[in-house]
Amino acid sequence: MADLQAKPLKYTELPGLTERQLSEHHDVLYAGYVKKVNEIRAALANVDLSKSNGTYSDLRELKVEEGFALNGVKLHEAYFDNMTPQGQEPMGDVAAWIAEDFGSYEKWAADFGACGLAARGWVVLAFDLADGKLHNYVCDVHNQGGVWGAIPLLVLDVYEHAYFLDYATARKKYVDVFMKNLDWNVANELIAKYELKKHRA
Ligand SMILES: [Fe+2]
Repeated sequence: MADLQAKPLKYTELPGLTERQLSEHHDVLYAGYVKKVNEIRAALANVDLSKSNGTYSDLRELKVEEGFALNGVKLHEAYFDNMTPQGQEPMGDVAAWIAEDFGSYEKWAADFGACGLAARGWVVLAFDLADGKLHNYVCDVHNQGGVWGAIPLLVLDVYEHAYFLDYATARKKYVDVFMKNLDWNVANELIAKYELKKHRA
């Protein structure tokens, strides 16, 4: 299996987030998850399957941390990708589906923003293949709270490391900045890429 490579940021700065905040988050923390996925997979290639055990075994520890690190990579890539220095108005299929499933953009944004204060790790606007609708889901850590069969369309990181350099404990201000920096093209491209219109309820 080829090693994962860290994806570069699409921008060097975003309104409301300093370059230092972004570089610590992307170049150090995110890049660290990429390295750990590769390290874990290399170790898994040589793990002793005969010692597998649910209380403690090398296989168990490696598989649990594989999920943690890989979701850390995927969630961070989605988070960095779905922001842009040219903040946009909601548009396209995702905006239309938000209005249908949540009542209005404002109702969705109020729910998503409140989830940003309720979660300890992530807020995800996901298209759930099970019912063909959009949902706001929350996760406390990378490998907890994810819903199987749901495609993330917009991802918000609310770990303190995402904003503490710029906002200290004022998480709501950071969430407001994130909402203004959203790149709606990315969500619409994901809808097209995964042909989600075929699954729309
Ligand atoms: Fe993060």
